[in-house]
Amino acid sequence: MLVSGKDILIPAFERRYAVGAFNVNNLEILQAIIEAAVAERSPVIVQTSEGAIAYAGMEELVEMITVAANEHDIPVVLHLDHGKNLEVVEQALDSGYTSVMYDGSALPFEENAANTKRVVEKAHAKGIWVEAELGALRGVEDFVSVAERDATFTDPKEARAFVQATHCDALAVAVGTSHGAYKFKGEAQLDFARLAKIHEMVTIPLVLHGASGIPHELIEKAEAHGGEFGEAQGVPDEAIKKAIALGIAKINIDSDLRLAFTAGLRVTLDEKPAEFDPRKILAGAKELITKVVRAKIQLFGSSGKAY
Ligand code: G3H
Ligand code: 13P
Ligand code: ZN
Repeated sequence: MLVSGKDILIPAFERRYAVGAFNVNNLEILQAIIEAAVAERSPVIVQTSEGAIAYAGMEELVEMITVAANEHDIPVVLHLDHGKNLEVVEQALDSGYTSVMYDGSALPFEENAANTKRVVEKAHAKGIWVEAELGALRGVEDFVSVAERDATFTDPKEARAFVQATHCDALAVAVGTSHGAYKFKGEAQLDFARLAKIHEMVTIPLVLHGASGIPHELIEKAEAHGGEFGEAQGVPDEAIKKAIALGIAKINIDSDLRLAFTAGLRVTLDEKPAEFDPRKILAGAKELITKVVRAKIQLFGSSGKAY
């Protein structure tokens, strides 16, 4: 059933597990995520980006996700991912989302805080949960100097001031992860010392974006059937576990689902050259996404936490 962000994230934060927030762009991805969460008896966050909304339509996505959520007895949150456009955020608040992210991370601190505060006031009046972001998502090795890194990653003291000023419910932090399939040039590195300090300074659940693992098996499968992914690299499972111990309660995954979809599609098209029924062509892609989501849920520790 569809529930508010707080119903899922407060228990996760208090009991030290994390809930996966998986990006949805179409029916098959949604079906795969819900099937996985139901099989694991896990709460789940289904999120749509502004890009997904431009692709499929907000009303279409909300209807589809709400219907699917209410067909099952596991808690499902419908979340707006990276709402940068305030009009889209406000539209989401009026359209059935139970959680929104206002992403003002590219703005100066004061402007980000002022916009976040306005979103929080409107959202809380409707019982909707708000995630905000402070800091920019970049890999550790993208910086030439420590000063440059300090200016880009989330500053723990600023995080405290930001949360106090805005009353946001969850905070996305920049500690070395980045979006997409190419996160690290050398060894995967996250700034755990910084995450620990933020967790000390801020008492709300923290959110890890850019958390895909980019599993070797998926890369190999896709590449065995014509894909080319070069030096793709993601966040190792051990780093995810460490991050959860340091206050991360919501973990965003999109790239791993895209990779599973692509690998599944490539295998089917390669192995069944005469198939032209889209439902059959997409079945393998869907199955692989379900497998990936189940593995994430197990890694995050939310299996069996549906109530
Ligand atoms: O934040 C990044 C997510 O993977 C969403 O990506 O904006 O291409 O839908 P998108
Ligand atoms: P990935 O690209 O690592 O899957 O991150 C997704 C994300 O943060 C969506 O907001
Ligand atoms: Zn993100």
